[in-house]
Amino acid sequence: MNSAVINALEATAISKSFQLGKRTIEVLHEVDFAVQRGEFVAVVGPSGAGKSTLLHILGSLEQPTHGSVKIDGEVISAMGEEARALLRRGTIGFIFQFHHLLPAFTALENVMMPARILAVPERDIEAEARELLESLGVGHRLDNKPTELSGGEQQRVAVARALINSPRVILADEPTGNLDRGTGRKLEEDLIRFARDKQAAVVVVTHNEEWAAKADRMINLVDGRIALS
Ligand SMILES: Nc1ncnc2c1ncn2[C@@H]1O[C@H](COP(=O)(O)OP(=O)(O)OP(=O)(O)O)[C@@H](O)[C@H]1O
Ligand SMILES: [Mg+2]
Repeated sequence: MNSAVINALEATAISKSFQLGKRTIEVLHEVDFAVQRGEFVAVVGPSGAGKSTLLHILGSLEQPTHGSVKIDGEVISAMGEEARALLRRGTIGFIFQFHHLLPAFTALENVMMPARILAVPERDIEAEARELLESLGVGHRLDNKPTELSGGEQQRVAVARALINSPRVILADEPTGNLDRGTGRKLEEDLIRFARDKQAAVVVVTHNEEWAAKADRMINLVDGRIALS
């Protein structure tokens, strides 16, 4: 790797511990991690290994106890809450293990929301949201609210919402966990294609070995440490 390349996403010596009463639970230990533009990295590892915690820290949803996270060379872990919120809106697309759609809004409105917050022209947002939902196979559910959608449909709407602002960094926590094999596989391919086409840095936590094997790189997290494979 050329040392002059600035990584799209870079974590250095990330440690994370939680305080539960008098007990300190150490979840991540000095994790180093870097992803380049256009690169698709799979994070695998047993339940409780710290995968979701790592992803939340990479996405600035949580702060590391020690260590730093950079996006395009800029240290985000030292930013204030407001600056990090701004960054999450425009730069990071997060797909959660559970979708967190807004129940009062339709599928189309949920997908449009992050772009509306960035004050993109309404007509452009709607066209883009429709196109994304159609490409993810939920174009026939634009006007339905989350409770009127199946679990897999909700998840695909959440994926469209994460992609609407063409984020440079996409973080996904078991995004295909709730989908049938065929739909899951299509979503896997969509995310790999998105990384390549938009030159985004994509990190996906998955238990799906077949998918992980298709990634540019696989990282195995065991007991909060990267295991050498
Ligand atoms: N807020 C918290 N307070 C205390 N402990 C926590 C907290 N969040 C996570 N943990 C602990 O950190 C460890 C790692 O959790 P994490 O959710 O990152 O695991 P994971 O690898 O994503 O597991 P899974 O595959 O089951 O989703 C677990 O032992 C969990 O109990
Ligand atoms: Mg998890």
